[in-house]
Amino acid sequence: MPATLIDGKAFAARVRAKVADHVTRLREEHGLVPGLAVVLVGEDPASQVYVRSKGKQTAEAGMASFEHKLDVKTSESDLLALIAKLNADPEVHGILVQLPLPAHLDSDLVINSIDPAKDVDGFHISNVGLLGTGQKSMVPCTPLGCLMMLRDHHGSLSGMNAVVVGRSNIVGKPMAQLLLGDSCTVTIAHSRTRNLAEVCRGADILVAAVGRPEMIPGDWVKPGATVIDVGINRVEGAEGKTRLVGDVDFASCAEVAGAITPVPGGVGPMTIACLLANTVTACCRANG
Ligand code: GUN
Repeated sequence: MPATLIDGKAFAARVRAKVADHVTRLREEHGLVPGLAVVLVGEDPASQVYVRSKGKQTAEAGMASFEHKLDVKTSESDLLALIAKLNADPEVHGILVQLPLPAHLDSDLVINSIDPAKDVDGFHISNVGLLGTGQKSMVPCTPLGCLMMLRDHHGSLSGMNAVVVGRSNIVGKPMAQLLLGDSCTVTIAHSRTRNLAEVCRGADILVAAVGRPEMIPGDWVKPGATVIDVGINRVEGAEGKTRLVGDVDFASCAEVAGAITPVPGGVGPMTIACLLANTVTACCRANG
């Protein structure tokens, strides 16, 4: 495997240690405890795992964690009433509503009811607009984690060709904005892109965020490119056991790439570390 492994797990541990230090200073010097409220509607197993992990890591960083687990049949008005309460609560600095929401709930309406200053996901339309115009905003956690790893590996990204495969509001679009902000030449590719293999082969930085297991093979990767794999897909492995794989075929891509993130242990841990960092940022901004 010629590619350098980008160790997101170790990087995330360093980010969390910095966050914990900052939290200690906020408590000792200003009497502040950053608080994160996480709202989960329903019992989607993957969402339950993420929410548990977020709660645990929030507490480990010395912050207050408020979990709100609601029945799958919760009405939109009840959910909006809870968000209004959290918006008004001075102990809550960050609010995250776990997505996807059950189909009877309007995700856009719900997300846009969060106070933008507490929107630690960066999904509120105000934060989307601020990011798109290069203004100070809350930045979505997964793309922020990817950008931090890229900056750490390369230093400057200026002038590099970046291809983001996937156009979701959660990852693909904000990732493209962040790379543009760092002066990359950015292409957003997706399922309808013509000659996707050719487009990918032009990338110095290839970010895969499509949610399709091992979709990108090594011969789509430019030799020496940096591959960031956002995918977390559970697939059937040997003897009926499930295993986690990314959106790129790791073995063949690692033969060609200059650097690559593994799954698990790449982008995933950085997402939660950035969520904690965003919560501390929200707490600091709220308190001047
Ligand atoms: N579901 C999958 N990823 C995310 C995320 O980053 N934030 C929220 N709120 N829900 C998600």
